[in-house]
Amino acid sequence: MIFTVAIDGPAAAGKGTIARAIAGRYGFAHLDSGLLYRAVARKALDGMSAEDAARGLDPSDLSEAGLRTAAISSEASRVAAIPEVRSALVHFQRAFARSEGGAVIDGRDIGTVICPEAEVKLFVTASPEVRAERRWKELTGSGADTTLDAVLADVHERDRRDAERATSPMIAAEDALQLDTSAMSIDEALAAAAAHVEARLPR
Ligand code: CDP
Ligand code: CDP
Repeated sequence: MIFTVAIDGPAAAGKGTIARAIAGRYGFAHLDSGLLYRAVARKALDGMSAEDAARGLDPSDLSEAGLRTAAISSEASRVAAIPEVRSALVHFQRAFARSEGGAVIDGRDIGTVICPEAEVKLFVTASPEVRAERRWKELTGSGADTTLDAVLADVHERDRRDAERATSPMIAAEDALQLDTSAMSIDEALAAAAAHVEARLPR
């Protein structure tokens, strides 16, 4: 069975949480496409050209350790605006999306550019303040020394860069279900997402 669930939206909206739960429930493979840009960003911060880093990216570069820092988030949104970086990562994501057995991919352009034919599209949002608070709790919970104000500034900056770039900007696909999780618990968001998937599964 080929079945793709595309989940897009801004930082800390709850995309990954929903993607992991849907993948677990239906036995689909899961790709967090943000890790591709984060892995390129890490190499760029180490001095490699971002284009070369994207062309040479190896799946083993995606192990999450150390890729979720604020510095890498910010650099990821910069390298993600480079057209050559994005095009070097398209093939891997498309193949993953259409792999046998079903796939969930979360990111910014999955339902619009990577897999416009996805059977299920979700665009998950929440207010910048709610998202910053969620991300701040995560970062401080894992020992990072940062303020809520600094995280909110990063959220605004990345929202702007991701939405305004010329190549594959973050935008909801016309046929995406928009899910504002600002006032939703994780369970409520998962229930809404799962109902949408359930209605589209092949019988
Ligand atoms: O993948 P994305 O950056 O969109 O967000 P995430 O990693 O799924 O969620 C960011 C944080 O918000 C996590 O700590 C989630 O547990 C939390 N969260 C929440 O508090 N309420 C929700 N409805 C969804 C996520
Ligand atoms: O988890 P969070 O939503 O904070 O970030 P992420 O999904 O790991 O993505 C990090 C950065 O990579 C984003 O700010 C985007 O600039 C970029 N990205 C992208 O351009 N396209 C994607 N499909 C996924 C991520």
